[in-house]
Amino acid sequence: MKILVTGGCGYIGSHTCCELLANDYEVVVIDNLSNSKEDVIDKIKEITKKNVKFYKGDLCDKTLVDEIFKTENIDAVIHFAGLKAVGESVKKPLLYYRNNLDSTLTLLETMNKYNCKKIVFSSSATVYGSPKKLPIKEDFPLSTTNPYGSTKLYIEGILKDLYRSDNDWSISILRYFNPIGAHESGLIGENPNDIPNNLMPYIVKVATGELEQLSVFGDDYDTKDGTGVRDYIHVVDLAKGHIKAIEHILKEKGIDCYNLGTGKGYSVLELIKTFEKVNNIKLNYKIVGRRPGDVAACYADCSYAFKKLGWKAEKNIEQMCKDSFDFVNKLNKDNTK
Ligand code: NAD
Ligand code: UFG
Repeated sequence: MKILVTGGCGYIGSHTCCELLANDYEVVVIDNLSNSKEDVIDKIKEITKKNVKFYKGDLCDKTLVDEIFKTENIDAVIHFAGLKAVGESVKKPLLYYRNNLDSTLTLLETMNKYNCKKIVFSSSATVYGSPKKLPIKEDFPLSTTNPYGSTKLYIEGILKDLYRSDNDWSISILRYFNPIGAHESGLIGENPNDIPNNLMPYIVKVATGELEQLSVFGDDYDTKDGTGVRDYIHVVDLAKGHIKAIEHILKEKGIDCYNLGTGKGYSVLELIKTFEKVNNIKLNYKIVGRRPGDVAACYADCSYAFKKLGWKAEKNIEQMCKDSFDFVNKLNKDNTK
């Protein structure tokens, strides 16, 4: 079985390529490297001792996407490619709508043309907006607070309309909670070029001394210690969820949404304390005001993914904190060689 992985050089995509190869799928990647580096392909090959076919280019490029489907006999697609920075999406909405929607439409039109009607799509817990109840279930009301989130919600809508028009499609929409951690080899992980917006990459840069101090955004939420609570999930567990979703769409038609998280909520302070403990390091942090747009708490009910896909997350928060730090330490060591 041959799987096209869009955005396969990225953080979640690269870990999923490794899991696909370990499960004997053939892997074809398209990535324009707007938020990743080409050497990730070599790292995937090094980890798995298997080959990956790489197309460097843009998923909005109809000619290239057509060429890929004409050349490769693609059985199914996992669609990760997209821009994902919430703050940037507020400043540059058109860039986000153009990139995330145009690429998806090009992909779906080409899949239709070549009669490849099986897709797993990367959505996000952001489509639940500010949840009224916890834990979050898949049938909760959907809304968004920023253009990035809106692209996810619109694409979910496009996929639902597509299925309504043609029941031959098999579509799994995966709503990720907060992926952190890295591959146990230390070869791939999350390595943002710019100053990170997300908590774990920021913590790691403070731990390595690249950034001076972590700001904790608010300690007056109605949560266990006043700081924001999130459902952190190890990226390797998340990648494994994609294998289960692929297995499912290869055998059954239909469309469905699944929460991928652990079901447990950790506060910012709990994550800091755990990181300090497992890595034996002190983090310099201070409490500041709330970040606009943040919700107090967000964690998933993942029972549907277990029931339908037979998937559940296995790695704990200690492993996530250790693997995130190990990856960046190894990267920094390799860069100074
Ligand atoms: P990432 O930025 O590391 O990976 C995305 C990849 O897509 C990058 O390698 C980038 O170069 C590529 N890309 C972007 N636009 C492209 C285009 N037009 N053509 C070809 N390649 C393109 O992000 P990630 O964390 O691996 O996220 C993967 C997907 O999961 C994204 O769709 C993201 O929105 C979604 N998601 C991520 C998170 C998270 O916290 N990381 C949470 C929920 C959902
Ligand atoms: N936080 C800080 N300091 C920081 C960064 C974050 O205190 O420097 C706090 C936030 O206030 C929040 C928690 O850490 O309470 C997690 O924040 P992240 O930015 O890591 O994650 P979010 O839950 O805000 O958002 C992320 C992605 C979204 C995605 C969402 C759900 O950025 O794209 O998870 O999947 F939609």
